[in-house]
Amino acid sequence: QPIYLADYTPPAYLIDGVELDFQLHPTATRVISRIRFTPNAAATSKDFFLHGEGLTLIRASVDGRDITPELVDGGLKADVPDAPFLWEAEVEISPEANTALEGLYMSNGMYCTQCEAEGFRRITYYPDRPDVMAPFKVRIDGDELVMLSNGNPVASGDGWAEWDDPWPKPAYLFALVAGNLVARDDSFTTMSGKEVDLKLWVRPGDEGKTAFGMQALKDSMKWDEEVYGREYDLDIFQIVAVSDFNMGAMENKGLNIFNTSAVLASPETSTDANFERIEAIIAHEYFHNWTGNRITCRDWFQLSLKEGLTVFRDQQFSGDMRSEAVCRINDVSALRGRQFREDNGPLAHQVQPDSFVEINNFYTATIYEKGAELIRMMKVLVGDDAYDKALELYFERHDGEAATIEDWVKVFEDSTGRDLTQFRRWYKQAGTPRVAVSEDWTDGTYTLTFKQSTPPTPGQDEKLPQHIPLAVGLLGPNGDEVQPTQILEMTEAEQSFTFEGLAAKPVPSILRHFSAPVILERDSTAQERAFLLAHDTDPFNKWEAGRTLAKDVLVALITEEDAPLDDYLNAIAVMLRDDSLDPAFRALTLGLPSQDDLAQTLFDAGVTPDPMKIYRAQQTLWQAMAEHLQDLLPRLMAEMEVTEPFQPNAEQAGKRALGLGLMNLLNRLDGGAAAQTLYDRADNMTLRLGALGYLLQAQKGDTALSAFRRQFEDDELVMDKWFSMQVYHAAPEDAVDVTDKLTKDTAFNWKNPNRFRAVFGALMTNPAGFHNASGDGYKLFADWLIKLDPVNPQIAARMSSAFETWRRYDVDRQAMMKAQIERVLATEGLSRDSQEMLGRILNG
Ligand code: ARG
Ligand code: ZN
Repeated sequence: QPIYLADYTPPAYLIDGVELDFQLHPTATRVISRIRFTPNAAATSKDFFLHGEGLTLIRASVDGRDITPELVDGGLKADVPDAPFLWEAEVEISPEANTALEGLYMSNGMYCTQCEAEGFRRITYYPDRPDVMAPFKVRIDGDELVMLSNGNPVASGDGWAEWDDPWPKPAYLFALVAGNLVARDDSFTTMSGKEVDLKLWVRPGDEGKTAFGMQALKDSMKWDEEVYGREYDLDIFQIVAVSDFNMGAMENKGLNIFNTSAVLASPETSTDANFERIEAIIAHEYFHNWTGNRITCRDWFQLSLKEGLTVFRDQQFSGDMRSEAVCRINDVSALRGRQFREDNGPLAHQVQPDSFVEINNFYTATIYEKGAELIRMMKVLVGDDAYDKALELYFERHDGEAATIEDWVKVFEDSTGRDLTQFRRWYKQAGTPRVAVSEDWTDGTYTLTFKQSTPPTPGQDEKLPQHIPLAVGLLGPNGDEVQPTQILEMTEAEQSFTFEGLAAKPVPSILRHFSAPVILERDSTAQERAFLLAHDTDPFNKWEAGRTLAKDVLVALITEEDAPLDDYLNAIAVMLRDDSLDPAFRALTLGLPSQDDLAQTLFDAGVTPDPMKIYRAQQTLWQAMAEHLQDLLPRLMAEMEVTEPFQPNAEQAGKRALGLGLMNLLNRLDGGAAAQTLYDRADNMTLRLGALGYLLQAQKGDTALSAFRRQFEDDELVMDKWFSMQVYHAAPEDAVDVTDKLTKDTAFNWKNPNRFRAVFGALMTNPAGFHNASGDGYKLFADWLIKLDPVNPQIAARMSSAFETWRRYDVDRQAMMKAQIERVLATEGLSRDSQEMLGRILNG
């Protein structure tokens, strides 16, 4: 059943052009396709096969002669001429019955599509593989007010519309939207002076939430011209917001489709974090126009070619729009929280996998975020100018092609003359490398010795040394930088680097800016960590020093050893008082490592993590911080007040973040009093939601919760927050009951992915609740996976990764989780998606 990269063969037929006619109907949409095929000279086979799933074939013809194709598993076969020919077919599909949200489906009465990765085969018979690219012409007939597809508008009239996309594209980039929609209109003049119409389509009533998204789009278009020299290539660019969507958004050519949560924003309904995420996703999808659409992937094993690169580009963009240091810290935290977790468990896989069962299961943190880290490392290794040159060559050489990761690496080799043979291992070797550091100071020579090793991952026992760029700087005893950042290239399993001419033994700052996705193992004293938190010139490592110190304290509290509590509290107090530091940075440094992060850390150190002890250690440390900092809190909180009208920019967001971070501490001293005041006067969602969370934590949230619901009950996205907050802030012993109760709420529309995630995603961010010793959390979650799987297998499979850490825990919890995984696996008719995921989780 798995598909192997090694089995790739070129398509037997290529396509010169496609015409599609849609006659829309909720339960009986007709799709007529006319496809001009040509035998592929490079092919090894002449077999004519078209993918198709869940289609009712009405008729088919070749060059005008009706034929009866052979219907086979997953598609059809037919006898066709060994020369160019015209294929025509008519199929019927039911968008309304499509709950999997893949192919053509309905969301709130509106037609929309999701074709990546293999959804187009649910729309019509087609070679649904990314290396078959073609220009599309689309006609839509229907009663809908607005009817959209890719490319440029050709003509439209009462009940019909025609679209023409001249750029050859694979079927996964096809899109169609039809319904009662209204647009925010704008325009953008490209660097060569071409005027592009911009439209952001939403349901009537949501117009007030479109301004920010439109600005983000224009900023992205400008940025891609300035930084990558990439210009937009159609007369129009459109975004549509859809309520029911499996992912964040989709880069369909000229017609991006977005989850409402990834595009709609207003100060009253969105938090600063929402604004930031929306800006990044709009940029991401727009940047795909060049890295993904103009240059696409040969096959799905190359997925990271477009996703890793596009994530890297959106990270660069966010860094330019906001604070680079703060963005980097957030990106690394997300990487560690999701990708390291994946890479260190049963779901670990290569950035370029060798095989998969269901491609939808590979839209992972490894393909996306680790993939982006690999590109970041290449840029560090070759340098900024060489990176720009390599990208020029990439666009020049591969524009219009379906390319491979190998093509990408080759471009870097050809344009820089560097040999990246060893670097390629990063794409083929799963698992997070550990880099252990030791130091030596003898006769004025300072030596750093690194040892790298990568633990075994499923199917990969032996690992070879990686090519690791280590950004290192040295600080003198007074805190001045005696050696600015230098890139040490590690290629051996063990390697030493020496520094001469130092007056005194320095303090090393290693892996600055997180120059490689590795786990750095360095035993160091609390004093040294505090020293780096105070003096490091690299903002990432300055934050990292605080984080490691906090981790040392928490781990010691959990294992009941001596905790360097005073060192931590004093260092944090100094850091908080430092007005020269960006409030956003201070807010991040005030945060503690997550419960999941601590569980993994303990597990790696040979200690079985107890979720309750981890939870209590966090609470203990926050209480200690609150008491230690109590004199500072009122003054600092007052300084963080924003008096100007709300702006979702980095500066204001940073102040709000620090203000709320401090309120987390104050809340432990005043039992919710300040949170209540803030809740009552908050005029934006960031502060309102922050205050609500603290009220819930102080067990004083009931009144605010009902008021919140009354105020926002018609706003789906805000109601998602109402659901999440209650689960996230529930006490560990209540979390499962709260979750269960919420699933019985009339507003728990579980078929909507955002609502399902709001509840169960939140349960996973409350590990002490999910993992409570009764095992009720596991059982409740498994019940819901079984219920969701037949309706939306993609979401069920994705969410099942909540069980991926089951082997970390004690034997009782392991047994309980294993039993639930097996119960789901034993469900009759379980989807291929969930079977693959749970099978890997169980056996990996
Ligand atoms: N290409 C989209 C993005 O990164 C994600 C689409 C994923 N779709 C899926 N069915 N797995 O922006
Ligand atoms: Zn993407």
